[in-house]
Amino acid sequence: MLPRHEMKDEDYYMTEEQSSRKIKAYIRELYAKLAAHGTSNISSVSIDGGQELARALGYDTSVLPIPERAWRLFAGCGNPLEEIRLGPHWTVLDLGCGVGIDSQMAALVMQPPGRVIGVDITRELLYQAKEYSCSNPLCHWVTGDGEQLPLRSECIDLVMANGSFNLLPHKEQALTEINRVLKPGGYLSVADLIAVGEIEPIVEGFEEAWGWCVAGALSASDYDLLMKSKGFSWWKLKEKSSYGPLAAAHLLARKSSRH
Ligand SMILES: C[S@@+](CC[C@H](N)C(=O)[O-])C[C@H]1O[C@@H](n2cnc3c(N)ncnc32)[C@H](O)[C@@H]1O
Repeated sequence: MLPRHEMKDEDYYMTEEQSSRKIKAYIRELYAKLAAHGTSNISSVSIDGGQELARALGYDTSVLPIPERAWRLFAGCGNPLEEIRLGPHWTVLDLGCGVGIDSQMAALVMQPPGRVIGVDITRELLYQAKEYSCSNPLCHWVTGDGEQLPLRSECIDLVMANGSFNLLPHKEQALTEINRVLKPGGYLSVADLIAVGEIEPIVEGFEEAWGWCVAGALSASDYDLLMKSKGFSWWKLKEKSSYGPLAAAHLLARKSSRH
């Protein structure tokens, strides 16, 4: 430790990189706990989950042949498939797929050579996704980080992200990656919380606020700027229900079809 008079600003504060590494490590730990225990009692924040949440968000839960314990791992903020008509032969990326409910829902209306690739940073949830979807050969599960996707360029027709986009500390980098893997004219569908009012500075439970999609929430104007700068030719942001300064929202965007 340096004597105090020799200490500079950088000796006190974390760099952005160190802080985002810490956030990601916390998120991985939080969602590994979710894999082990379901949505109850995994943090000081009580969150809804299970079939009840899925039904409230508009899912027809009767169409998936999975047990209630799989539904208890669902942690979505909306339904990214609600406003898009899937092509039966599309390649779909479910980014931050968790237990893979949206992947499986998509696979129900697809056929070979279509496929759904669920990518998630939390291995423990992917094991469960694999277990609960074993009868569906169109679903594939890959461990990876949304900010460095383990996929080739221009191979995806639709990227969907349910409650996971807000968890990415580097949004610009994530959108560069999403844009890279999308085919020209491909779609992005995000269900997440957005900021609609003044959010108080978070002084306690900062990492938890990241883990539950709050700290990373963008405003509509942030989305406009990002979409414009990242090669999307068209997008619409629809607000669903609001919770004080936050609202559940759905973003549908299309990558420019020009190279
Ligand atoms: C709120 S949960 C939603 C899970 C799933 N989409 C659902 O609807 O149940 C967020 C998910 O994003 C994943 N995640 C967080 N950060 C990630 C990252 N950097 N790359 C990939 N996945 C990430 C978490 O592991 C978790 O499974």
